[in-house]
Amino acid sequence: MSQHLPTSPYRGTRDFLPAEMSVRTQVFHRLYEVIERYGFARYDGPILESAEIYEAKSGQEIADLQLYTLTDRGGRRLALRPEMTPSVARMIAANANKLQFPVRWYCHVNCHRYERPQRGRVREHWQINVDTFGSASPNVEIEIFELIHDMMAALGASRDMYVVRASDRVLLDGILTEMVGIPAEKVKTVAALIDRWDKYPHEQLLEEAAGIGVSPAQFDRLEEALSAGEKLLEAIPADVMQRSQLAKVLDGPGRELVTFDPFIVRGLAYYTSTVFEVFDRHPANSRALFGGGRYSDLVNLFSDAQIPGFGFGMGDVTLFDFLETHGILPEPLPEADVVVIPSQADLYEQAASVARILRGSGWRTSVPLEPRKLGKEISRADKTGARAIVIVGPSDWAAGNVVVRGMASGDQQTVTVDAVATAVAAQLDA
Ligand code: HAM
Repeated sequence: MSQHLPTSPYRGTRDFLPAEMSVRTQVFHRLYEVIERYGFARYDGPILESAEIYEAKSGQEIADLQLYTLTDRGGRRLALRPEMTPSVARMIAANANKLQFPVRWYCHVNCHRYERPQRGRVREHWQINVDTFGSASPNVEIEIFELIHDMMAALGASRDMYVVRASDRVLLDGILTEMVGIPAEKVKTVAALIDRWDKYPHEQLLEEAAGIGVSPAQFDRLEEALSAGEKLLEAIPADVMQRSQLAKVLDGPGRELVTFDPFIVRGLAYYTSTVFEVFDRHPANSRALFGGGRYSDLVNLFSDAQIPGFGFGMGDVTLFDFLETHGILPEPLPEADVVVIPSQADLYEQAASVARILRGSGWRTSVPLEPRKLGKEISRADKTGARAIVIVGPSDWAAGNVVVRGMASGDQQTVTVDAVATAVAAQLDA
C-alpha cells in the first residue's frame, strides 16, 4: 500500500471549499461596497516583506513570538506579513509626492502569525484594513467609526449585538502618571499589564504589578480608576484631556459611536493616541472583531514626511464567529441557477447551445459533461441547488422546443427555444 501525504492543511490554516467561499464572498462584497461608498480605494501589496519593518514598531508580541521569518537565497531576512499596517505605511512613504492627501485606502489580505490555534485565533487569517492618511483631524476617527457601524449594518447586525470600545494612549499615559503616580519609565510595562487584565485572576495581577514596582496603594488607585469606565473621563485632569484625540472625538458626534473603555490598550507598539476594538456582546465570542487606532509616526520608519494614519484591521475569523452566533450568515449560492440537460448523449451540442442563450441573458447555467440517466442529472441539479432545469429531448428539439421546469414548484412547460430565457426568468424570479 502506498503511503499518502496528509490532506489536512498546515495547522492553523484553512481550506475554503466553494460553499464556504460563496458565503465569504457575499459577506466581503457587502463590506467592500460600504467601504467604497465612503471613498476608500482598494490597494494590495506583497505577502513577503523585510522582517525589520515589523521588528521596529509592531511590538514585542508580534516581532519576537509570532513572526514567520525566512532567509532568502540572497541572505535577506524576510517575514510573512503578520499585519498590513507597516506595509501600507511603506507604500504611503514611497508615493507621498504623487498622492492627494487625505488618502483613504483599503485592502483585503491574508496575514500570518505563529499563534496557538484556538477559538478566534488561527495562523493564517484574512483582514480587511481601512486607513486614512494625512489628516490629524478628529473627523478621521468619526468617519471611520461611522463606517464601522455601516459595515455591521450591511451584514444585518444591530447595534445591540456589538460594541466599539475606544481609549487613547495619551489618556492612559495621563491616567497612569498623573492619577496613579506611575513613573514615566514604567508606563509601557504597566500598560502591557492592563492589556492582559481580563486574562489573569486578581491575585496574579497584583503579583505581576508588584514585580514591576507598582505599590499596593498604586494598584488600588489603578484598579479604581480603570473600573470607573466612562465616569473616569470626568476625573482626568484637563491638560491630559486637551492633548487627547479621543477626547475631541467624544466631544462631538463621536459620543454616539463609541464607548470609552480605559482597558483598551492594544498590543501593537506604533499607536500614538486613539485606540479601539469592536467586540461581540455575545459571551461566546470574547476576541475583538476589529482593532485599530491612530499612528502618527509609523510612516517615519521610511521617510521624514509627517503623515499621520488612522485605521483598523477587521479579522475574518472573529467576524464569521459573530455572524454565525447571531444567525446572520448568508446562504451559499448554488453552483448554477439553471442546468440544461440533454435527455440523450447525441443532444449535448443542442443543450450547450441553449446554455449559451441562457448565459447570454445573465443566468448562471451549466450542462452535464458526460451522458448519464436523466433522473441522475435531475437529482444532481436538485442537490446542487439549481432552481430550474431545461430538458432537451429528441422530439421536442425536432419541433424547435425544450421543456423548462421550476425545481421548487415542479411547474413544467414546453416552450420554443426562442422563448427559453423568458420561461427560465419566470421560474427564477418566482
Ligand atoms: P490586530 O488587532 O492585531 O491589529 O488585528 C486586527 C484584527 O485581526 C483582530 O481584531 C482580529 O479580528 C484579527 N486577528 C489578528 N490576529 C489574528 C489571528 N491570529 N487569528 C485570527 N484573527 C486575527 C492589526 O493588525 C493592525 N495592523 C490593524 C490596524 C490597521 N491598525 C491601524 N490600521
